[in-house]
Amino acid sequence: MKILVCGKGGCGKSVISTLIAKGLAARGRKVLVVDADESNYGIHRNLGVEQPRDFMEWLGGKEKVREKLLKFIQEDTRIVEDVRIDMLPEDFVERKNGIAVMAIGKIHEFGEGCACPMGAVAREFLESIKLEDGEDVVVDTDAGIEHFGRGVEAGCDVVVVVIEPSYESIRLAEKIASMARSIGKRVVRVANKVDEEAAELIEADAYVPYSQEIYRACLFGEEIPLVDGADRIVDKILEVAK
Ligand SMILES: Nc1ncnc2c1ncn2[C@@H]1O[C@H](COP(=O)(O)OP(=O)(O)OP(=O)(O)O)[C@@H](O)[C@H]1O
Ligand SMILES: [Mg+2]
Repeated sequence: MKILVCGKGGCGKSVISTLIAKGLAARGRKVLVVDADESNYGIHRNLGVEQPRDFMEWLGGKEKVREKLLKFIQEDTRIVEDVRIDMLPEDFVERKNGIAVMAIGKIHEFGEGCACPMGAVAREFLESIKLEDGEDVVVDTDAGIEHFGRGVEAGCDVVVVVIEPSYESIRLAEKIASMARSIGKRVVRVANKVDEEAAELIEADAYVPYSQEIYRACLFGEEIPLVDGADRIVDKILEVAK
């Protein structure tokens, strides 16, 4: 199953992606986490691994990808060939407890150009990765809805929308859910950082309470533990994916 996690900036996409990956791995599934956020340092700390090398480098670097992108537009050629989790180059994948982690690419320098090539690679990668039974991909995206504009969602099966208790986040989640449904994707809504009042107010499929443990892990850049609520998200994802 290919699961894409999105929502407003700071709502908890990386935290929820981590909980989903750990929850799936705890059920014996093989999980690949794809860090498709080109701005933040990345989800790897939440998962307790080192920062993976940019996958863009494996494809020859940003310049090469730009060339491939141009060819892709002019001649409809592929940027990323079909690939399986086991075939991914070891130098670009970090692994821990049944979870593999890779990163599409980051903006490293001033003036290096926009992140569009990375968006194209993320979209192509998601379409090109071929999964065996019992394998899942979890994609942690950048904030907002630019990835919809880039078409990254096209290759996924389930869109997980993370909602934090704020008016903006709730509204954006509605927009994301309706965009996802308009392209035929199944949607799971996760309300994150909720207290009792917020849980009553926000309509969602699963609820993750505000957790001091998560807060502290994020503050110190440490691995996030599995918390209550993760199981329900995984159940819901497996249910809608049937
Ligand atoms: N369930 C939770 N309980 C307590 N704090 C949380 C929880 N989820 C997220 N946080 C807090 O919210 C912050 C942002 O979470 P996270 O990095 O997962 O958001 P994000 O949506 O991935 O952000 P970005 O848009 O920058 O990628 C964390 O650093 C942490 O402080
Ligand atoms: Mg994030």
